[in-house]
Amino acid sequence: MSGGGTELILGAGGMLARGLAAERPHALSLGIRDLDITDPAALARAVVPGVSVVWNAAADTRVDLAETDPAHLAVNDVAVGVLAGLCREAGALLVHVSTDYVFDGRAGRPWREDDPVSPVNAYGRGKLGGERRALASGAEVLVVRTSWVFAPGGVNFVDTMLGLARSGKTELKVVDDQRGRPTFAPDLARALVRLVAAGARGVVHFANSGETTWYGLAREALARGGFPHVRLVPCTTAEFPRPAARPANSVLDTSRYERITGEPPRHFTAALDEHLRLRAEAAGEPAT
Ligand SMILES: NC(=O)c1ccc[n+]([C@@H]2O[C@H](COP(=O)([O-])OP(=O)(O)OC[C@H]3O[C@@H](n4cnc5c(N)ncnc54)[C@H](OP(=O)(O)O)[C@@H]3O)[C@@H](O)[C@H]2O)c1
Repeated sequence: MSGGGTELILGAGGMLARGLAAERPHALSLGIRDLDITDPAALARAVVPGVSVVWNAAADTRVDLAETDPAHLAVNDVAVGVLAGLCREAGALLVHVSTDYVFDGRAGRPWREDDPVSPVNAYGRGKLGGERRALASGAEVLVVRTSWVFAPGGVNFVDTMLGLARSGKTELKVVDDQRGRPTFAPDLARALVRLVAAGARGVVHFANSGETTWYGLAREALARGGFPHVRLVPCTTAEFPRPAARPANSVLDTSRYERITGEPPRHFTAALDEHLRLRAEAAGEPAT
């Protein structure tokens, strides 16, 4: 795939990076303590000739904090430009990951790669800046937009719901007017590898199949996770205000991914079952 050479995984420790490390065991995984991507000199020491692929899974994913703290821009926007420039000089392929939050959510159908972008929050604007810097850099670049990511050991909605249920909550109010496609990070990692193997460049969307709302995702997670008795109450975004606005429809159209790889993404409920199995194994519990 890489024609030899060293592969780097940036953002080690994150949900996607862990999936990538499992798929690319020969790659060098670097966490923020090994390589802070906002440090241009450190990046320049790592991305040198001989590096064939850089998998950039590093990001500041704190969507609400981004509204008031511009620190996310250094990671999600500026550093991506520096990284892409170094990849160009080194002749390395940059595989960069972006978000459904580059869209405003107003389309009446799933979002395609060439649809107009118009983020409704600061995180989305920062991620869009990173995409643009990567694509304008002149490097070999693949940008994959994804959505609603979950995996064992990460900060994610599915585990938040399961944690609340486990802590004894008997009723949970969950937003039911934002639609999207949940994505299991190990499936995303495999998708990135397949896209690179197929020679994909430019922007590609990937998410698991099956669109739902946060309420629908919570319902599936709790039923499959052994908490069918927790009462879920659907609510509107207006009833559950957050610092950052979210797009009402962030469903990604993945047909380009399917055309390139010949592989339809599996349904998110199958991925949820695997997620629950892995969580139970990690905790030494029998799967429900
Ligand atoms: N999570 C989602 O729902 C979601 C949705 C759409 C798109 N995405 C995109 O998917 C990609 C993968 O995200 P993820 O879900 O795997 O997120 P994640 O679990 O939050 O992982 C991100 C990793 O990046 C690290 N990081 C932060 N700042 C860094 C820096 N300056 N240098 C090096 N590493 C740094 C983080 O370290 P610390 O934990 O130590 O800060 C963390 O390990 C990102 O591009 C994200 O924007 C995610």
